[in-house]
Amino acid sequence: MLPAFEDFEPLFTAEEIQRRVAEMGREITRDLEGCDDVVVVGVLKGAVVFMADLIRHLPQDVVSCDFLRLSSYEGTQSSGSVRFDFDLTQPIQGKDVLIVEDIIDTGLSMSFLLEALKPRSPKSLKIATLLHKPARQQREVQIGYLGFTIPDRFVIGYGLDLEGKYRNLEYIAALRPEVQAKLTPRPEHDYG
Ligand code: IMP
Ligand code: MG
Repeated sequence: MLPAFEDFEPLFTAEEIQRRVAEMGREITRDLEGCDDVVVVGVLKGAVVFMADLIRHLPQDVVSCDFLRLSSYEGTQSSGSVRFDFDLTQPIQGKDVLIVEDIIDTGLSMSFLLEALKPRSPKSLKIATLLHKPARQQREVQIGYLGFTIPDRFVIGYGLDLEGKYRNLEYIAALRPEVQAKLTPRPEHDYG
């Protein structure tokens, strides 16, 4: 059964998110000192809201944007093997690449993506993720920039979906633990 909106409770307010995203932007900007060709890669669809806010805190004269989309072979659960749904529009050889992701859950999609992009010889390759759910991690992924660590709760809002909906909430909400405990299987999200 699909959880209802009432089954969720606020986890991070819009103000908390904006404050953290600005801090991340300042940290990334410091690290980009001396870089003159930075490609910010958004992983569709979940990263789009975070990326839109984050890039406005990055230096204007060196940053370009690109997108890719991943999907899972085995349905929408984040348990299957991963492949490109569509790929970048440009080569990244010799460029500083910053992957922007909404959440690292099992880590399967980010470990796949890092392995897929490394052979293209970027000058550097780092991940900025808004959320990390370490309890569910199956693959170790090195996170360059992290917004918030969260417990093992299903979250929606600020780009994250429940069956495609709620990406446009300004805040992040989490499924109430007592509701999540009763639901098997876990609620589903679009893979991205
Ligand atoms: P992975 O399990 O780390 O490979 O995550 C795959 C993708 O599933 C993430 O990039 C998110 O877009 C999505 N996802 C994972 N956990 C959640 C969640 O709690 N809510 C909504 N989407 C999620
Ligand atoms: Mg995602």
